Amino acid sequence: MNQLLFSECHINKHLIKNRIVFPPVVCFNYSDETGIASVRNVMHYRQIAAGGPGIVITEATAVWKDGRLAPFQLGIWSDEHIPGMRKIANAVKAEGALSILQIHHAGLLTSDKVSDVAKAPSADPGNPRSMALGIEEIEEIREAFIAAAARAKMAGFHGVELHGAHGYLLNQFASSLFNKREDKYGRGLNEKLKLATDIIHGIRKQCGNDFIIGYRLGANSPTLDDGIEIAKKLEKAGVDLLHVSHGGSLQNLPRTPKGYEFNWIVFSGTVIKTHVKIPVIVVNEIKTPERAEWLIENNHADFVALGRPQLADPEWVNHVMNNEEIVRCMSCKPKCRWYEDSGLCPARKKRDG
Ligand SMILES: Cc1cc2nc3c(=O)[nH]c(=O)nc-3n(C[C@H](O)[C@H](O)[C@H](O)COP(=O)(O)O)c2cc1C
Repeated sequence: MNQLLFSECHINKHLIKNRIVFPPVVCFNYSDETGIASVRNVMHYRQIAAGGPGIVITEATAVWKDGRLAPFQLGIWSDEHIPGMRKIANAVKAEGALSILQIHHAGLLTSDKVSDVAKAPSADPGNPRSMALGIEEIEEIREAFIAAAARAKMAGFHGVELHGAHGYLLNQFASSLFNKREDKYGRGLNEKLKLATDIIHGIRKQCGNDFIIGYRLGANSPTLDDGIEIAKKLEKAGVDLLHVSHGGSLQNLPRTPKGYEFNWIVFSGTVIKTHVKIPVIVVNEIKTPERAEWLIENNHADFVALGRPQLADPEWVNHVMNNEEIVRCMSCKPKCRWYEDSGLCPARKKRDG
């Protein structure tokens, strides 16, 4: 049981000890408005990595101060962020996991607490704060993503994940739902992906072939057929690892086959995997070791990410490996309490007494 979940594999030259990923999960109140990683951030990632996942993807980290999704978001927009990030990367690596930093710009979803305007590929008629980016501004954001990746490398991370899902900036560029431009950053899919592909090429040039470039993709951007085409183009652009999540919209959700035991996000990841050769992480409500093993065993995924289960029990992976009891996530409604304050997670409270 769970043999394949604990099998090793490679991404580029990097050996990963198992197929379980800790996906990016923001811890808003751990840092302050500087975005510099605190001792609490470092302790959190050390604990998560010590729990056994093969890959730890650090939370959405802002490449642009005025593009943050919240005032207390971690940042990587300046060299001042490097020492704190180095402590996180070292803690994750010391525990034997691959360390990846998720880099992010919120675009239309920029918080009004960090900027009066929300810059995006196109203005959103329903959002008076929104403004379309000019060409020079897009080029500045491209450089900010590349510089952020270079800082992540300096800090010792094995790679970065571009946040191209959940309706944030790169997702907005990729999707015709948000991108109405008629210039070289709009029109067809190649143009819509120009910012992402320019960033990928820039990171590769600056950070070299061993540096992992991951991409978190919104599968319904806006349809799964678009998601498949986006994944193929990202592979061609040189991405090493795809992580399939949602596109920040409840429109055009793909139908899962009758009797299918996972949700449409997992389903989309498994479909996208059949169209690319690079490794694919699938995610969302996988929840149990049996379900995780099934996805790997049937070659529906190269990696499985379990977020809330590892928040509820940071020893989740070790417990599964040793056949020990797991503290289960209680699936709080209307949404995970971790968004508000990690101290409110009832499962974690139960575990820690
Ligand atoms: C509290 C919280 C914070 C999250 N923060 C991020 C984030 O920073 N970046 C991101 O791409 N996804 C984020 N997510 C989404 C998770 O990475 C993951 O996709 C989601 O929790 C579904 O997986 P799960 O059912 O295994 O928890 C967050 C989810 C939660 C619950």
